[in-house]
Amino acid sequence: MSTSIKYMTTAQIRKDFLDFFEEKGCKRYPSSSLIPEDPSLLLANAGMNQFKEYYQGLKTMREIGACSCQKCLRTNDIDNIGDSRHLSFFEMLGNFAFGGYTKEDAIHWALEFCTAPEHLGLPLDRLYFTVFTDDDESIALWTKYGADPTHITRLGEEDNFWAAGPTGPCGPCSEIYFDQGEEFGCGEPDCAPGCDCDRYLEFWNLVFTQYDRQEDGSMPELPHRNVDTGMGLERISAIMQGQHSNYEGDVLRSLLGVGEKLSGKTYGGKATGADRSLRIIADHSRAVTFMIGDGILPSNEGRGYILRRLLRRAVYHGRLLGIEGAFLTQYAQEVRAIMGDVYPALVQNAALIDGIVSAEEERFNATLDKGEALLEAELDKIAEGEQLPGEVAFTLHDTYGFPVDLTREICENRGASIEMAAFEAAMEDQRERARAAANRDAWGAFHNAWTTLSGELPATEFCGYDEDVAEGARVLAIVRDGESVGVAEQGDEVQVVLDRTPFYAEMGGQVGDTGTLAAEGVLVDVNDTTHQEGDLYAHVGTLVEGTLRVGDVVRAAIERGRRELIRRNHTATHLLDAALKIVLGEHVSQAGSLVAPERLRFDFTHFEALSSEELARIEGLVNAEIFAAEPIVTQVMGIDEARASGAVALFGEKYGDVVRVVSTGASDKPFSRELCGGTHARNTAEVGLFKIVSEGSVGANARRIEAVTSVGAISFLDERLAELDAVANALKCRPVDVMARLVQLQHEVREAQKKIAEALTGGSSNKVAEAIAGALDMGAYKLVCARLDGVGGKDLRGVWDTVRDKLGLSCACVLASVGEDGKVALLAAGTDTAVKAGFNAGDVVRAMAPLVGGRGGGRPNMAQAGGRDASGVDEALEAAKTAVGA
Ligand code: ALA
Repeated sequence: MSTSIKYMTTAQIRKDFLDFFEEKGCKRYPSSSLIPEDPSLLLANAGMNQFKEYYQGLKTMREIGACSCQKCLRTNDIDNIGDSRHLSFFEMLGNFAFGGYTKEDAIHWALEFCTAPEHLGLPLDRLYFTVFTDDDESIALWTKYGADPTHITRLGEEDNFWAAGPTGPCGPCSEIYFDQGEEFGCGEPDCAPGCDCDRYLEFWNLVFTQYDRQEDGSMPELPHRNVDTGMGLERISAIMQGQHSNYEGDVLRSLLGVGEKLSGKTYGGKATGADRSLRIIADHSRAVTFMIGDGILPSNEGRGYILRRLLRRAVYHGRLLGIEGAFLTQYAQEVRAIMGDVYPALVQNAALIDGIVSAEEERFNATLDKGEALLEAELDKIAEGEQLPGEVAFTLHDTYGFPVDLTREICENRGASIEMAAFEAAMEDQRERARAAANRDAWGAFHNAWTTLSGELPATEFCGYDEDVAEGARVLAIVRDGESVGVAEQGDEVQVVLDRTPFYAEMGGQVGDTGTLAAEGVLVDVNDTTHQEGDLYAHVGTLVEGTLRVGDVVRAAIERGRRELIRRNHTATHLLDAALKIVLGEHVSQAGSLVAPERLRFDFTHFEALSSEELARIEGLVNAEIFAAEPIVTQVMGIDEARASGAVALFGEKYGDVVRVVSTGASDKPFSRELCGGTHARNTAEVGLFKIVSEGSVGANARRIEAVTSVGAISFLDERLAELDAVANALKCRPVDVMARLVQLQHEVREAQKKIAEALTGGSSNKVAEAIAGALDMGAYKLVCARLDGVGGKDLRGVWDTVRDKLGLSCACVLASVGEDGKVALLAAGTDTAVKAGFNAGDVVRAMAPLVGGRGGGRPNMAQAGGRDASGVDEALEAAKTAVGA
């Protein structure tokens, strides 16, 4: 068997592959986003995803086919990640044809690329092939172009039939394997490609896509015989670099290096222990960096949840490795350094990636800290050799998001184990509950008239950009109580579909319009307009007069004044977005919005509260743009042209080929330019005035601003001024003097409080002074041990402050008091010096508490407890002395 393989870096292989197929006539495409266009897929999982419509014959390509290097993410095997092969994120090299070249070309070129010395130059005697059960044609073709016929195996549907998802293009496939050598094999006589052992490594899959699987499972033929190939870049890199694991190719190896540096551990290539953790963090951190770079944000569902899971798993493996503090941004930096030139979104969104990663990591670390404290406390309770109750492990998992692996690890460090059967049972119960809930939801969505209507009716034509009234609009459908009906009577609650309408249906944060649909003797009072399947607009309201029939012609008129306010707020939202980017940075990205008549709300990515200076600057920029009275210019153009013009698009949002671009002003560099389907003011001046009403946080990485404009802004200011007048009245001064008067009053109050406090604590302060005078000398520190009946639990801390003021850095105290209600309060506290000398407030209080019928505890520096049994106070103080050895 030939042994020498030439060395190629990942970057060289990627480039060589794309150059090779471009030369063959394939058009080179950039990777699509990890968020697929195809709604049936959660994440991009193959190079062919972005070409689905070409396979289906819905689009055609001038060139003979395409090639790409695609970012992919697969999480079905998440628990296997860390072995030598599985990855979540990976790059897939692919070439594709939609009738433009044949299966024979695909096989011929694949072999040429694999074996030609100027390309991979892999020795033929180390290449093996699999084909779908009865695919004799492929066997003949592989052989024709040089493959050894004894190296070809037939495999069944599970291995050699490929589909991206449950529906869509699919077909039989043929795979190329690399023989790593006998020493990697299982030694079984029938060991061949497809065997579970590590000898034969699959690195290139050639799919002959010819079917289009439907929802009902049927598989009509696609219009062409197609080609879809995918070569795992990490895998071929490892092969070309003489490595036996995906993780040991140059790219992932350098991420393993980050972990080595952070943890001080040396990677040894194993799939267990620290090596496994190093691999998992390398893989997951790369996935996380790419996901955020493509606009996915952590959340509790869908792709956001996958992101959160990967990120958290990376963090806890960091803990297993003993890495201190937040560390993931260091990985993100390395990902940018080694992959940023190929994937510019990583660099463009660097601030966003780092911000989100650290905020999320910080939050999860806090959760882990809490869980760890709880676990430690539970472990304290169990005797040596006992098991941690399964319910505790479940609560940790369920309430604290504390992974059971981590619980196990910590238990093992303390010589304990988990009662796994009980844990599994609790998990199963939870799954059962989740299933029951999911079934309920599915039934809710069972019957829906809109699904049917969307298949029958044309999309509603919206004429409301320029018109407030549509004369002669025709009623195409009426939905009442969830059913499509032909007629509705007076008093019915209805949803009406028209052929054309000036009513804006709620979308992109802008609320739906209100108004009337009227004809002779017929009136529908519309209180909302919503978007339904198939781009149908539903006018939601009450038939207040007459009978309405499908086919009727009505006059559709929106409530103009309300819409005017909405227009102004929508324009203000764009101005706000632009101002936020200027003041806070380009990482600001819209995360949600509400554009209503009375106010606007804008959620955006940012990691800390805005200062009042920032808020003032933002408000100032928006108002300056309003006062500049810029006309609002709307253009309809191609999506590429729109992006090239610098128009702001929603991060991660999909757009059609033709989009509306809304700009403030006609210059090349307008203050704001956004892709938007909403309705806007005609001139920024109409917005009148912009005032921010509130700023706050929504989740870990997002902030929310609420604001008002025009008449809303005036009312807001009027209310504020009225409040100020009322305060001035109450303070009996002029509005401009309110502040000075308040400062003076605060001063007077403080003075008065001081006097009262002195009068009240006169008695006990003597007792405190006595106790301090009688402090015991413990050698390294002084110990004040006193019973101070009548001093409340809260005030004991004040006494400790006094003790410390008087005795300095080396002191401790043990205080007990019985309140007027008969309840006992205990407090023990010590300075760092006392704690170093052996004083432990937590232990002291734990020794005392049972004697007064109470419970409590705390840290070595400070601990408190309460109890009900006043008869045990003196005994408790004695017990405290014994505990500290006085
Ligand atoms: N789409 C094929 C795969 O992912 C090439 O394996």
